[in-house]
Amino acid sequence: MPGVALIGIQWGDEGKGKITDLLAEQTQVVVRYQGGNNAGHTIVVDGERYALHLVPTGVLYPHCTPIVGPGVVVNPQVLIEEMDALEGRGIDTSRLKLSGNAHLIMPYHLELDRVTERWLGKNRLGTTKRGIGPAYADKAARIGLRVQDLLDPKIFATKLQVVLKEKNLVLTRVYGRLPFDPAALQEEYLSFGERLQPHITDTALLVQRALDHGETVLFEGAQASMLDLDHGTYPFVTSSNPLAGGACAGAGVGPRDIERIIGVTKAYCTRVGSGPFPSEADPADAEILLETGKEYGTTTGRPRRCGWFDAVAARYAARLNTVTELVVTKLDVLSVFDVIKVCVAYEYEGSRYEDFPPHQTIFNKCRPIYEEMPGWTGDLAGARELEDLPKEARAYLEMIEDLVAAPITLASVGPSREQSVRFRAADGA
Ligand code: GDP
Ligand code: IMO
Ligand code: MG
Repeated sequence: MPGVALIGIQWGDEGKGKITDLLAEQTQVVVRYQGGNNAGHTIVVDGERYALHLVPTGVLYPHCTPIVGPGVVVNPQVLIEEMDALEGRGIDTSRLKLSGNAHLIMPYHLELDRVTERWLGKNRLGTTKRGIGPAYADKAARIGLRVQDLLDPKIFATKLQVVLKEKNLVLTRVYGRLPFDPAALQEEYLSFGERLQPHITDTALLVQRALDHGETVLFEGAQASMLDLDHGTYPFVTSSNPLAGGACAGAGVGPRDIERIIGVTKAYCTRVGSGPFPSEADPADAEILLETGKEYGTTTGRPRRCGWFDAVAARYAARLNTVTELVVTKLDVLSVFDVIKVCVAYEYEGSRYEDFPPHQTIFNKCRPIYEEMPGWTGDLAGARELEDLPKEARAYLEMIEDLVAAPITLASVGPSREQSVRFRAADGA
C-alpha cells in the first residue's frame, strides 16, 4: 500500500495529527504537499503532546523521513524554530528534507496578510495571518522567492530587489506602513539558508524513489477539502489545494501513485475564521461542543465555531477526494447530548439540495435540514472494540457511512493512540 493520502473532509482540525500517529508504524515517508504554518496538527506520542505547524508529523518517528514538498509555502524562521523546539525535546530533525522548489514566506507577506485583513473590515477572511495567501499570490504571479534561491546570494538579491520595490510601494503608499530594508532582509534570509542548506534537496525524486522501492509514503494533508482554493467555500478558503489531487502537484507524483485515500472527519463539525457554515449549532449547543471538544485553534488559539455533522459537505468532499475510507474522530465528545442532529440536506427557496449547491448564494443562505439521532449514555473514552460502543453510537456511525457513501475504518474516542476503535481493515491495509 505505497501511497496513502490523509485528507480532512471538513474545514480543518479534524484530528489528522492523531491519525498520522496511528499510521506511522507502517509508514516510511511523510510528505506535506501544501499549506504552510497555518496548519496545527496535534499529536500525542507515548503520552507526549506535540503541536506541529510546518514540520511533517513523520519527524516524531525515527524510521520516517519527513519531507516538506514543493507545494508548501515555507517560513524559514518558523521552520528553524520548530526544528529547534523539537531538538530541545529530544527529537532528531536531521532527517528532514526540504524541497528547493517550495516558495518562501517573506516578512512582507506577513505584513500584507495583516493589512489586507484589516482593509477588508467586516468582509475579512479570518486568516491565520501567517502570510499564506500573499505568498501563494506571488507564486502564481511568478515573483515569488523559492527555497533554492537561498543558496544563491546573487539571484536572491536580484529577485528580492525587484519584488521589494513593488511591495514597499504598496505597503507605504496604499497601507501607510513602513518599507522593508532589502539589505537587512537579505542578510536574515541568507543566514536561514545556511542553516537549512543540508536539508534542501529534490524531494519529488525522493518520494518517487521511495514509492519505486515499495515504501509507504503518507501524503499529509493540511487544512481540508472545504478550505480548498478551487472547490471550497471561496473566498473563505486557504490559498492551496488540500484535496488528494493537490498531493500530486504538491509532492511531485502522479495520480496512480496514491492508492489509499483516507478522509478524516469529526463526528460533528467545526470551522475557524469567517465564511458560511450551514450546520453551525445554536449558541447553547455550540458552547457545549466548544467546551467538551476543547475546540480552540492549535495555531491561533481562537475558539472554533461548532456545529453538527454536515453530510452534504462531507459527501461532496468524499467525492472530490475519491476517498477509499473514512475515519471519524471525536465521537466521545457527542456523549453529552441526548439528541444528535445531522444535516442531511440544505433548503433554499423551497428547493432541497442533497448535493453541494452550484452557486455560493445558495450555500450562503440555505437552511440546514436535520435528522435527529438518539444519543447514548456513558463515556466512550474507554471503548476499544466495536462491541464497546453503545448501539446508538454504532447507529450514528452507520448513518454517516450511508450518507457519505464510504466505509468507516476507524472511530476515534480520545486524543491518544489507544483511544481508537477499528471497524474493519481497509482494502490492502
Ligand atoms: P488537525 O489539524 O486535523 O491535526 O487537528 P487539530 O490537532 O488541530 O485538532 C484536533 C484536536 O482534537 C486535537 O487537540 C487532538 O488532540 C484532539 N483529538 C483528536 N482525536 C480526538 C478524539 O477522538 N477525541 C477527542 N476528545 N479529542 C481528539
Ligand atoms: P489544519 O491543518 C482550520 C483557515 C483560517 C481561515 C482560512 C484562510 O490544522 O487543519 P489562511 O491563513 O490559510 O490564509 O486562512 O483557512 N485555516 C484553517 N482552519 N485548520 C487549519 O489547518 C487551517 N488553516 C487555515 O482560519 O479561515
Ligand atoms: Mg489543526
